Amino acid sequence: MKKIFKKLFLVDRIDLIKKNLKKKNPFSLEIGVHRGDFSKKLFLNFRPQKLVLVDPWMVFNELIYEKSWYGNSDILGQKKQDQYFEEIKSYFKKEILNNEVEVCRSTSDVFFINNKYKFDLIYIDGNHLYDFVKKDISNSLNFINKEGIIVLDDYKLKGWWNDGVTRAIDYFIKTKKIKILEQHNLINYHHQCILQKI
Ligand SMILES: C[S@@+](CC[C@H](N)C(=O)[O-])C[C@H]1O[C@@H](n2cnc3c(N)ncnc32)[C@H](O)[C@@H]1O
Repeated sequence: MKKIFKKLFLVDRIDLIKKNLKKKNPFSLEIGVHRGDFSKKLFLNFRPQKLVLVDPWMVFNELIYEKSWYGNSDILGQKKQDQYFEEIKSYFKKEILNNEVEVCRSTSDVFFINNKYKFDLIYIDGNHLYDFVKKDISNSLNFINKEGIIVLDDYKLKGWWNDGVTRAIDYFIKTKKIKILEQHNLINYHHQCILQKI
C-alpha cells in the first residue's frame, strides 16, 4: 500500500525546499553529508552564498549504529569514511578556494560551539537518535535567520534510530518554539519536515 502512495505522491526534497524558501542564494548548512549526494544538489539548485558541510566522517563502534551508514559493520570501516571526506573536498575544490563551500570535519555539536554564521537554510541529516536531533534543532534555532527554514530528513520513518527524528520534532512542537511548514504524509510523500522558528 505504502509503495502505491509513494509512486503516486512522491515529492522531490529539492522541490519541497524551493517551495518553502524565500531567500535567493541562501546561506546554507548541511548537517550529515556522507558522500555529498545531496550537498551537490543543494549547491547546483540554490547557488548558495555559502554552503557549510558538517560531518565527522567517523566510524561509530557502538552496537546501536551497526545498521547506520557510519557503523562499523563494513570491513573497510574508517578508511571508507576518510575516502568520502577526500572525495567531497576534491569535488568542491574550486568552491572551497572561492570561499563558497566550507567543509567541517566534526560533529554538529562541536561545529555549533565555534559557529559564527547565521543561516537561511539548515538541512539536518546527521545522527538520527532522539537526543542528537533535539540538540541539532535547538542549536539550529539559535543560528537561523528570520524567515529561514530548518529541514529534517527521515521524518516519520522508523529505522535503527527508533523514530528519533519524529520524536524530537514533536518535543519542539509541544514547547511551541517552532511552526511546521511542511510534513510528510501519504499524499505528500517525502519523509521531510520543514520548520520555522516562531
Ligand atoms: C544519512 S547520512 C547523510 C546523507 C546526506 N545528507 C545525503 O542526503 O546524501 C548521515 C551522516 O551523518 C553523519 N553524522 C553522524 N553523526 C553526526 C553528528 N553528530 N554530526 C554531524 N554528522 C553526523 C554520518 O557520518 C553520515 O555521513
